[in-house]
Amino acid sequence: MPPALPRKVKVVEVGPRDGLQNEKTLIPAAVKIDLVDRLSDCGFANIEATSFVSPKWVPQMADAAEVMEKIRRRPGTIYSVLAPNMKGFEGALAAKADEVVIFGAASEAFSQKNINCSIAESIARFEPVARAAKDSGLRLRGSISCALGCPYQGEVGPEAVVDVVQRLAALGCDEIDVADTIGVGTPNRVRAVMEAAARVFPLKRISGHFHDTYGQALANIYAAMEVGVSIFHSSVAGLGGCPYAKGATGNVATEDVAYMLHGLGVETGLDLDRIVDAGQFISAHLGRKPVSRAGNAIAAKRAA
Ligand code: HMG
Ligand code: MG
Repeated sequence: MPPALPRKVKVVEVGPRDGLQNEKTLIPAAVKIDLVDRLSDCGFANIEATSFVSPKWVPQMADAAEVMEKIRRRPGTIYSVLAPNMKGFEGALAAKADEVVIFGAASEAFSQKNINCSIAESIARFEPVARAAKDSGLRLRGSISCALGCPYQGEVGPEAVVDVVQRLAALGCDEIDVADTIGVGTPNRVRAVMEAAARVFPLKRISGHFHDTYGQALANIYAAMEVGVSIFHSSVAGLGGCPYAKGATGNVATEDVAYMLHGLGVETGLDLDRIVDAGQFISAHLGRKPVSRAGNAIAAKRAA
């Protein structure tokens, strides 16, 4: 008997943040706002809308306050933002974010490149953010980059991930993301790291964040579901990359994830047709085809 899959999955749409942060040409805030609003109409319980990070490091996210001010909030949806330090937290609080995301790494080299400090220093920097988030009644999520491999350091073992999971858990994270930043993971390794993480943090609060660089993301999601993981991140139209992980492509496409989950009979609360429309909208703005097999197939069928 194959293991039972979760009956219900929460899909966190990260396109407006992870998807767009790496775009070289500045996208007008109005387009980002329109994208978030369209995604809100798709039924997501959680949308990662933007980041309060240094505009010197990630210029595309410099309009975070405007985006947060002007989006239409769907009751029941959690609007998350990245906040690497207190300056970011203050922006997030003023913008009435529902959830702040502190983001570290399982690899020292990536931590230095992405947030300019060691893993230990990052945790020390996250401490006041975590405390302030709790004091303000905001949800707190912790993200662990390079959980399955690092562009600078190579292999990353489950023990390095477990170490950071424990540190983020100690800060009071409500949810912890195991992120395959460069998409190098394969299903057995994903199963192993999820099982290891679940030994130190509740499984139902662990999420999988898979980039699709090597075409493994759907298989990795399935493998994580076999372990019991029931929260996954994805980007509409497969948007994205990471400014500090050269060659990393987008997150797994939301259309593909929704198509697979619905085909498996897993409840998501998502309207796939509307997600396809949102993917077409942002891709038209970016002047390219969506990087989603399911999205393109559905669009082609409609046009036939
Ligand atoms: P630093 O240069 O060490 O920080 O950067 P600093 O404190 O020395 O500040 C430098 C300047 O930035 C100062 O401005 C600060 O005020 C300003 P100046 O005085 O020179 O004019 N600054 C800020 N401005 C706005 N908002 C802020 C902020 N903080 C400082 N929050 C820092 C350290 C962490 C700030 C920087 O490295 C940074 O912003 N990094 C962000 C990198 C990033 O966003 N990466 C992509 C997101 S992570 C990701 O994609 C992975 C994920 O998807 C999971 C996965 O796939 O792996 C989550
Ligand atoms: Mg990412």
